[in-house]
Amino acid sequence: MTTEQLRLRVLDVVQETGDAHSLVFEAPEGLTYKAGQFLTLRLPCADGTVARCYSLSSAPGVDDHLQVTVKRVTDGRGSNWVCDTIKAGDEIEVLAPSGTFTPKDLSHDLLLLAGGSGITPVMSIIKSSLARGTGRMLLVYANRDEKAVIFHAALRALVAEHPDRLLVLHWLESVQGLPSLKPLQEMVRPWAHADAFICGPAPFMDCAADALKGLGFSRDRIHIERFTSLAGDPWTEVQAAAPVAGEPTVDLVVELDGETHELQWPQSQKLLDFLLDQGLDAPYSCREGACSACGLKLLEGEVAMDNNSVLEQEDLDEGWRLACQSRPVSDAVKVSYDD
Ligand SMILES: Cc1cc2nc3c(=O)[nH]c(=O)nc-3n(C[C@H](O)[C@H](O)[C@H](O)COP(=O)(O)OP(=O)(O)OC[C@H]3O[C@@H](n4cnc5c(N)ncnc54)[C@H](O)[C@@H]3O)c2cc1C
Ligand code: FES
Repeated sequence: MTTEQLRLRVLDVVQETGDAHSLVFEAPEGLTYKAGQFLTLRLPCADGTVARCYSLSSAPGVDDHLQVTVKRVTDGRGSNWVCDTIKAGDEIEVLAPSGTFTPKDLSHDLLLLAGGSGITPVMSIIKSSLARGTGRMLLVYANRDEKAVIFHAALRALVAEHPDRLLVLHWLESVQGLPSLKPLQEMVRPWAHADAFICGPAPFMDCAADALKGLGFSRDRIHIERFTSLAGDPWTEVQAAAPVAGEPTVDLVVELDGETHELQWPQSQKLLDFLLDQGLDAPYSCREGACSACGLKLLEGEVAMDNNSVLEQEDLDEGWRLACQSRPVSDAVKVSYDD
């Protein structure tokens, strides 16, 4: 995760289904990312520029180029602009890869539950694990009908190549109706030992998470990626409000990239703004509590978040906080990006 801003050249646009397009970008030299991470694209739509996150469907160390896959959303500004406008040769401004929807260990067995465009980060994880890991994977992939299945042929080819490591079960609403708890549980029951990754429309993710919890999955083995639109512009330089003379500070200890920093944190400042102001390369994308790119673990003390659209109660209970929204509450705070 880094905050670097880049201009990427579009090499190709691939129509995946009637309403989904992949953008293939030339990969800048030295750019690294993890399977499951996303790019934030700056889209100069006719009615104003918007920032939108799109997961990488390419896999690091497997694909030569970067690829994101965008599915049209009815009346959506960014997704329709991408699908209607972008062509090979165009250049798009992006923030460097970010996000925490990434398996820690590719040798673990993975249970992957995707709906619609939620296949994009999952495809990256599948390709990475097959190329660089040893774990087995079950993908349950829900779609409206067969025509809506993104990467249908690519998935079939991967299963044919790795029949002992990858199993794909399609759930088609046109045939089976909307995904529901009990049948989903029966499909995934033999995988109750695996690490789970869920991405798709909100009702699908809620159903999938409930199904796994019912099978005894602990929360730390359920990873969820929520697709929301950003409201603000992460490209705008945000200056941390200058500390007021005499403003109280709290003792802050930050673990970042293997180093420990001891700082005095002014009470009025948000943690991310303060760390960037101190010259630390703290990760972020949206700066509005919507993407989790700035996620860190609270080890000691307490903070209060202005906004949180991504972390669930279980995440908070485990100590996860969003740096871009956190202000100090206790006199001493210790946080870690490395935990
Ligand atoms: C980490 C992350 C990864 C993502 N990865 C992908 C991916 O790989 N592929 C993908 O396709 N998407 C992905 N998304 C979602 C993507 O960022 C966008 O949210 C999505 O493309 C919709 O954006 P849009 O501009 O087209 O729609 P928006 O303009 O944001 O609109 C979304 C919906 O809200 C409605 N709406 C908009 N404004 C209003 C209003 N004022 N009142 C009422 N309704 C309104 C619209 O009609 C539409 O139905 C990801 C999101 C995140 C956070
Ligand atoms: S940067 Fe997106 S939630 Fe903080």
